[in-house]
Amino acid sequence: MSKHATGLLLSQIAVAATEAAAIACARLRGFGRKNDADQAAVDAMRTSFQTAPFSGKVVIGEGEIDEAPMLYIGEEVGAGGIKVDIAVDPLEGTKLCANDAPNAMTVVALSLEGGLLHAPDMYMDKIAIGPGYAPGLIDLDLSPAENVMRLAKAKGVPVSDIRACLLDRDRHAKIIDELRSLGASIRLIPDGDVAGVFWTTETTRSGIDIYFGSGGAPEGVLAAAAIRCAGGQMQGRLLPETEAEAARARAMGHADVSKKLTLDDMVPGDVVFAASGVTDGSMFEGVRFEAGGAHVDTLVWDSFSGRRSRVRSVWPYA
Ligand code: FBP
Repeated sequence: MSKHATGLLLSQIAVAATEAAAIACARLRGFGRKNDADQAAVDAMRTSFQTAPFSGKVVIGEGEIDEAPMLYIGEEVGAGGIKVDIAVDPLEGTKLCANDAPNAMTVVALSLEGGLLHAPDMYMDKIAIGPGYAPGLIDLDLSPAENVMRLAKAKGVPVSDIRACLLDRDRHAKIIDELRSLGASIRLIPDGDVAGVFWTTETTRSGIDIYFGSGGAPEGVLAAAAIRCAGGQMQGRLLPETEAEAARARAMGHADVSKKLTLDDMVPGDVVFAASGVTDGSMFEGVRFEAGGAHVDTLVWDSFSGRRSRVRSVWPYA
């Protein structure tokens, strides 16, 4: 199958999966039941994959087989066809959905076999900017202030016109202090760092120039897929908190657990990234349930062809 056709096929499969998951968990927006909302998204996404014309294998999923009955790492899904690696976050921002707060979304990345890093379920330190800057402009080994100063210079603006995004967590206090002392603007988000990273790819729309801080490693690879499609820069580093976590990372193939991971390490092959809005957010609308059906707003980005699309679908009620 040509590269272009592969991108088209994987885009269709990804969109169907994120849309189905978004509709399912959107019915549970605002009821305070984050686990139920997550389960609804997982069920719907898995059902969508099961009927899709591919042979998919989950490489980033809901957890190991003993902790997740569906979309667990290693699970094979699909009705048969080309071999595809799957990364999922069926509901990114479970609390956001439970509270009907902005930016809950459903997320999928699809690559051919071997195109996505197998990220263990632990924290990852992340830094990302959008496209249009010289390669190597940012670096996880530089201080946050140095990265922001470099970015401001490259963008031709004062540091006060650079806005960084971070998860609002105590562990980020040092970065926040450093950036505030520098005079940069900071958006603190309650959850959802996949969105935080991909906002950097559309600064004009999102207002975010750079993403910093630690969050889930699986979310890091999903966000890296978005950056690969949009052409920005990202680095990550696993942050095992215990020897057991470090051992798990090594068992998944991370010989040097503290290695600085480049975008090519995280997403070595072409990829399709799709995300559908569950609640309203900076990049898309949440699901609307209207008389004619459920309206879903999705971004689908395809590095096989370079195409980045927005799909607005209406699904009839089942
Ligand atoms: P869930 O959707 O699984 O609740 O994850 C939300 C999230 O904010 C992610 O976007 C982020 O990577 C991670 O949690 C951060 O973890 P923590 O809440 O432990 O800081």
